Amino acid sequence: MTQDIASLDAPDLPVRDGSNSRKVFVKTYGCQMNVYDSGRMADALARDGYVQTEDMQDADLVLLNTCHIREKAAEKVYSALGRLRDMKKERAAEGREFMIGVAGCVAQAEGEEILRRAPAVDVVIGPQTYHRLPEALKRARAGDRVVETDYAVEDKFEHLPATDKAKIRARGVTAFLTVQEGCDKFCTFCVVPYTRGSEVSRPLAQILDEAKKLADGGVREITLLGQNVNAWHGQGRNGESLTLGDLLYELATVPGIARLRYTTSHPRDMDDRLIEAHRDLRVLMPYLHLPVQAGSDRILKAMNRRHTAAEYLTLIERIRAVRPDIAMSGDFIVGFPGETDADFEATMALIKTVHYAQAFSFKYSTRPGTPGAELGDQVDDAVKTERLERLQALLFEQQRAFNEGCMDKEIDILLEKPGRMPGQLIGRSPWLQSVNVDAKASQIGDIIKVRITGTGPNSLFSELVAG
Ligand code: SAH
Ligand code: SF4
Ligand code: F3S
Repeated sequence: MTQDIASLDAPDLPVRDGSNSRKVFVKTYGCQMNVYDSGRMADALARDGYVQTEDMQDADLVLLNTCHIREKAAEKVYSALGRLRDMKKERAAEGREFMIGVAGCVAQAEGEEILRRAPAVDVVIGPQTYHRLPEALKRARAGDRVVETDYAVEDKFEHLPATDKAKIRARGVTAFLTVQEGCDKFCTFCVVPYTRGSEVSRPLAQILDEAKKLADGGVREITLLGQNVNAWHGQGRNGESLTLGDLLYELATVPGIARLRYTTSHPRDMDDRLIEAHRDLRVLMPYLHLPVQAGSDRILKAMNRRHTAAEYLTLIERIRAVRPDIAMSGDFIVGFPGETDADFEATMALIKTVHYAQAFSFKYSTRPGTPGAELGDQVDDAVKTERLERLQALLFEQQRAFNEGCMDKEIDILLEKPGRMPGQLIGRSPWLQSVNVDAKASQIGDIIKVRITGTGPNSLFSELVAG
C-alpha cells in the first residue's frame, strides 16, 4: 500500500504521478522523537517527488531512522543493512535505482564508520541536518557517498517544509510536536547528549504555528516532545522568560486541541509553573512520564542524575497534591556498574512507594564514549537478568492494579482508530490506556464518555454511556 505524500505546494518540482514517482520506505527505531523526525523527513522528500511506501520491496530509497540508546538497538541497524545490501545487488542487476540512507542517532554517533562497515550505504545523515536530506541524495546520485553529521548552523525547523493538511489528516487525530531537542544532563550511562547535542528549544511562535496547523488538519491531541522536554524555555511576546508550564497554558488556547501531553521529563526540571499547569489545565492529561532510573542514592549519584530518591518522591507528592488522579510512568535501569543487592532493593522500595501505572525498564548497556563505560565493577549479566525479571514483575503487577482500579468508572476517551471488529473503535483514556468500545455512531476524533466494563494488563473494554 502506498500513501501519497507528494507536497502540493512545491512548484519548482517536476509533476510526477503515482506510477513514476520515486518511493521511499522509512523504518523508524527508537523513541517518539524519531517517529516525529521520520514524518518531517518524509515531508522534505515529498518536495523531491518521493511518495511513501509501506512495502520495502517497492522502494527506491530505504531510510533507516536509527537509535543508539542500547547496544542491541544499534546492532539491529547493521543486520538490517546486511539485508539491504543484498536487495541493492538484485536491483543493480535489474538496472533499477536503490538507495540506502541511515539517519538518526546511530548516524550521528558512528558517521563515517557506517560507510566502512556497510559499503552499500549511500547517505548517512544526523538528526540536526534533516533539511539537507534532498541535497544529500542528489549528491549521492551523482556518485558521492555522503556523511552529513555536522551540527547545522541554520535552524532545521525553519528549513523543513511544513506538513501539509492532507498528510496531517492521513497521520491521524493524535500528533507529536517536537519543542525541544538535545540534552545537557549527561547521565553517565546515556548517549543522547552526544547523539542529539546540547539542549535547544524551538521558539514559541514556531510551536504555536505548528500546533494550529495540526488542529486545522483535524488533530485533537498533541504530545510535546523533547529528549528533555521540561527543559524547554522561550520568550513571551513581551520578552519575558517562559518555561514548559507557560507553553502549555499557551497551547491550551489553540482551538480544536482537546488534549495535551508531554514527554520525556527530567525530575530536576519539574518547576512550580509546570505543576501549576497540571493543577489548572483540564486539557493537560493526568499522566506523567518521569524517569527516575534507580532508587539508591549511591547509584543515582554515580549516574549523575543530580537528584535523590527522596527528592523524586517529594516531587511526586507535590504533583499528586494538585492532581490526585495523575498516573505515573517511569524508566528504570538495572545493573548499573557497582549496583549491589541493597541498591537494587532500594529501587524496588521506591517503586512500591510510587505505584506506577506504566513503566519501561532495561538492563544497563555499556555505551562506548559515555563515562559509565569507563567504570569498573560491571554487574554480571545473569544478575541483571534476575533483577530485571523481579522489577518487571512488580511493575506489571502495579500496571494491572492500576487498570483494575478503572473498572466501572465513567471516563472520556479520544477515539483514535478502528478496532478489529466492525463497529468497534479504539480510543485512549486520559491515562494513556487503550480502550475498546462498540460505538457505531461515533467517529475517529470524537471524545466520548464510556463506562469501563473489563480490564486487561494492556487494554480496557468499555460500553458507551448514553447521553
Ligand atoms: N530523555 C529521556 C530518555 C532517554 S532514553 C530521559 O531523560 O529520561 C530512554 C531511557 O532509556 C532512559 O530513561 C533510560 O532508562 C534508558 N537508557 C538510556 N541509556 C541506557 C543504557 N546505556 N542502558 C540501558 N538503558 C538505558
Ligand atoms: Fe539521557 Fe539523562 Fe539526558 Fe535523559 S536526562 S537524555 S537519560 S542524559
Ligand atoms: Fe534512541 Fe536517539 Fe531516541 S538514541 S532513544 S533515537 S534520542
